[in-house]
Amino acid sequence: MKRIYVKNLRDYINSEIEDYFLVASIKTRKKRDGGDFLDVTLSDATGSIPARVFDNIEDNRLSLREGMVVKIRGIVDQFREEISIKINEASPEDNFDITDFIPTTSKDIDRMVLDLHRNIERVSNPYLRELLKRFFNDVEFMERFKMAPAAKANHHAYIGGLLEHTLNVTELCVSIASRYREVNFDLLIAGALLHDIGKVEEYTYFPKIDRTDIGRLLGHLVIGYEMIMRKIREMKNFRGGFPEDLKLQILHLVISHHGELEWGSPVRPMTLEAQILHFADNMDSKVWMFIDAKRKRRDPFSRWSEYLQSLKRYVYLGEPENEHTESENEELF
Ligand SMILES: [Fe+2]
Ligand SMILES: [Fe+2]
Repeated sequence: MKRIYVKNLRDYINSEIEDYFLVASIKTRKKRDGGDFLDVTLSDATGSIPARVFDNIEDNRLSLREGMVVKIRGIVDQFREEISIKINEASPEDNFDITDFIPTTSKDIDRMVLDLHRNIERVSNPYLRELLKRFFNDVEFMERFKMAPAAKANHHAYIGGLLEHTLNVTELCVSIASRYREVNFDLLIAGALLHDIGKVEEYTYFPKIDRTDIGRLLGHLVIGYEMIMRKIREMKNFRGGFPEDLKLQILHLVISHHGELEWGSPVRPMTLEAQILHFADNMDSKVWMFIDAKRKRRDPFSRWSEYLQSLKRYVYLGEPENEHTESENEELF
């Protein structure tokens, strides 16, 4: 079992450690004296760290393969501000928990799956309900859906991220629908639950979160469209077949949810439900970015985030929290 994580390595400077890490990259380089050394990047769910191998290069090279989990014995070094590991011994390891190495949602995945099913039960249109069940009651699909990230970097980029994001968007839509009686509730909720299902194929999460070939070449809107079309075709004997207009509307929700042509949707939202779904989707991803900016505040005294490419702006983080509490306390006492 893994005990020491990258974020805690500072506590082990000059000590020998023995623990599991993922080999993110490895290169053979030349030392000043002409000999070889291995320049490695090790990672786990909390970050990455440089590591070097100076002895037993040949043996260690065989164990240290990119994308593999290895057991490392080595010394934690510090040079100026940089911490690194001098590896003495490395051996491959097959038995590990993936969530030790890939960032994972902080929410309880099983609990979110239950909440997802509770939302499916809210849909009463028999065709939409059946369509949803054919996805979310499929054990193999659910195994992938609950593990998939929602993105590579921008928002919910971790195991369970797609489930977390889908649940947020669905519950936002439930709440929005309660404000406007004109909304077709079943259509909107079904669209929310299905809008990003193509991401189960678009992303891979091990050895790192990345886009798959099909994800890069087709993207999750087209993949999702295809997945839904397939299921609708399979429903041809269900109550006389899936109604044509309902099919067009649910597909429209999926392909228009990015809202704008330049954000990857082939058409802009043209129904009330599609417009709401786009807002809910956009809202959940943007809210995540603001929360994350605060979580990642690097310099505890900085009141501003770094420039965030995802939002194309800096985010105001306010006074550092400790200072804030202190000044409040001063006023109190
Ligand atoms: Fe999307
Ligand atoms: Fe989404």
